[in-house]
Amino acid sequence: MDTGKLYQSIFRRKSVRSYETSPLEASVTDKIASLIPGLKPLYDIRTDISIVPGDSIRGIFAIKAPHYLVFSSENTEGYLENAGFILQQMDLALSSMGLGSCWVGFARPSREIPVMEGMEFVIAMAFGKPMGSPYRESLSEFKRKPLEKIANALEDPFLEAARLAPSSTNSQPWYFIRSGNKVHVYCRSLNRLTGMFYEKFNRMDVGIACCHIWLAGLRHGKDPVFMKDRKSAQAIPGYEYILTVSGI
Ligand SMILES: Cc1cc2nc3c(=O)[nH]c(=O)nc-3n(C[C@H](O)[C@H](O)[C@H](O)COP(=O)(O)O)c2cc1C
Repeated sequence: MDTGKLYQSIFRRKSVRSYETSPLEASVTDKIASLIPGLKPLYDIRTDISIVPGDSIRGIFAIKAPHYLVFSSENTEGYLENAGFILQQMDLALSSMGLGSCWVGFARPSREIPVMEGMEFVIAMAFGKPMGSPYRESLSEFKRKPLEKIANALEDPFLEAARLAPSSTNSQPWYFIRSGNKVHVYCRSLNRLTGMFYEKFNRMDVGIACCHIWLAGLRHGKDPVFMKDRKSAQAIPGYEYILTVSGI
């Protein structure tokens, strides 16, 4: 996995929702499959990613695409952040290959697609040859909150990468506290009703943002380490502490 290329994709990728119907050549899907074993996890949790045909994904909000990645995982502490962290590497890799991709929350595989023992289906990602460009022309095309609304920092290359991360309904549910060479990461708290819809997705969103921080760290010659450091993370009203990145 060329993490430098993944980092570059952060600044131009976009969700693609229109695809050419023809499947990708086998050599291309083979190349995509070959990336899967090299993906870096956030936590040591058993996961599986399969490439399945687009017509095996069901749901009224499913995107019509020739292929999908289906992500399954053990359901254990941190599995949703872990899913976001891992699958975002594929989103960026597909973009760097000139392909389109889109996270799809409200869809699931048909019963014919088996889930591995001890795991559950978590999320799917559509991909294929895009109709039109899979890239943004400039940073101004990203509809994102300014850094000062999501962090206690005005300029920070690691948090700028996180700021540009995709999130479910573009909710950008994260908050970051920069403290020396650490960043404490938070997720918005939800009430019972909104939690029913968004909690799972928001945890994945935070994992996606952490993936961008990790790539920015590597790009700047750092070795980011993800850990729980609840004691040194201050409480932020309306947000829940998730994890701390150190070494950046
Ligand atoms: C966890 C997650 C679930 C998503 N689910 C859907 C979906 O069901 N349908 C869809 O069209 N886009 C979905 N998206 C894409 C977001 O709407 C998109 O990332 C966001 O609006 C930002 O736009 P961008 O990806 O083009 O930067 C999802 C994104 C994430 C991270």
